[in-house]
Amino acid sequence: MFFDNTINKSTRIISYALCNMERKAVYPGSFDPITNGHVDIIERGLKIFDRIIIAVLENPKKQPLFSTKERVRMIQDIFLDQKRIEVKAFDGLLVDFVRENSATIVIRGLRALSDFEYEFQMTLMNRQLNPDIETLFMMPSISYSFLSSNLVKEVSMLGGSLSGLVPEEVEKKLRKSIQRTQ
Ligand code: PNS
Repeated sequence: MFFDNTINKSTRIISYALCNMERKAVYPGSFDPITNGHVDIIERGLKIFDRIIIAVLENPKKQPLFSTKERVRMIQDIFLDQKRIEVKAFDGLLVDFVRENSATIVIRGLRALSDFEYEFQMTLMNRQLNPDIETLFMMPSISYSFLSSNLVKEVSMLGGSLSGLVPEEVEKKLRKSIQRTQ
């Protein structure tokens, strides 16, 4: 009887802890710049997770169009009213960033079959580095399945319209930055 009561109490405590545990995920990327495809994935992720940390890669080798600070700021501005989103810059290994932020889930968007090989390699390498971290793939709306930050930069550079493809603020920043470089 004593034993049963102790087990019941422990089960109640564990269930309570699980129910109250924050479901947190990390959504990493270059975000140079963030597109509506990324925003779509984040909004879908918020249906599953209580909190999403958007991890912006700080990689001097990649020579991004926007500085890390600008990329972080742009994303913060887009999600200004969304308290469940946090935006942070990171360098080094993604698995280390995930662990340091007490998360175990990484979200990645999968647009088409062409993304698969790169994502497959990256996921298995991350698993090799830290088997406690799982990667969750999410598909964006079909209307964004062709969209990429690189294409967005190219179209912007050539004067094409980005309406509906990136948040308005990002489009303005793209135009300014392209004027700066020309
Ligand atoms: O938006 P991207 O450029 O496809 O994102 C790639 C990203 C940032 C997820 C990836 O380059 C990354 O995780 N970089 C951190 C370095 C790392 O952990 N490398 C080893 C895992 S493959």
